[in-house]
Amino acid sequence: MNVSKAIHERRSVKTFSQKRQPTRDLIEKIIESATWAPTHHLNQAWRFDVFKGDGLLKLAQLDAEIHLDELPADAVETSKTAIIRQRSAKMMQYPIVIMVSIPKLHGRKSAYIEEIAAGAAAIQNMLLAAHEEGLVTFWTTGKLARSKKTKIFLDLAKNEEIIGVIRVGYPESEKTHKKWREKREPVTNKLNWHEA
Ligand SMILES: Cc1cc2nc3c(=O)[nH]c(=O)nc-3n(C[C@H](O)[C@H](O)[C@H](O)COP(=O)(O)O)c2cc1C
Repeated sequence: MNVSKAIHERRSVKTFSQKRQPTRDLIEKIIESATWAPTHHLNQAWRFDVFKGDGLLKLAQLDAEIHLDELPADAVETSKTAIIRQRSAKMMQYPIVIMVSIPKLHGRKSAYIEEIAAGAAAIQNMLLAAHEEGLVTFWTTGKLARSKKTKIFLDLAKNEEIIGVIRVGYPESEKTHKKWREKREPVTNKLNWHEA
């Protein structure tokens, strides 16, 4: 697929086919594409954790726990049960979830922000590669990416960042990803030429 076409066609999609699962090979193929992103000193300080099946259920339980922590101490049992059920159901509708994190490298020459920037480029590569394969994706961060509990779960240090929670699957139907966030501000709003 033409790169420009993929860039302009790719859109975040929140609902996925429950009938068709991406294969392990396909997921590894899109992650391999991620690793061709530019990276200062070729540090490649990215890490991909893929969740599916019972692994995804564990992530769903963690996500529910993180959301439970926000409830007031006197919250009733029924609202806790509702949150657990709702969070788990939400997570389990995603065929695959890929967490992208940026471990801090020892003795590296570049700044951590550069590793984060490279990680974001890697994610975009992955989303475009997924699009080419007929997959749809949804990149979020949110409470799951920010929680200390998730860092412990992934064995990351407190000051290391999770930069993406990427849901991946086949589209449920064409309709689900039409007319959602298709517009962009004119590039001239964001562009400055310095010529003199
Ligand atoms: C770092 C990052 C975090 C995001 N987190 C969320 C999120 O928590 N919830 C959400 O609905 N979308 C999230 N998004 C997706 C954006 O809302 C989406 O990419 C944007 O609206 C443009 O839509 P498009 O991807 O279809 O072009 C996130 C995107 C990025 C890059």
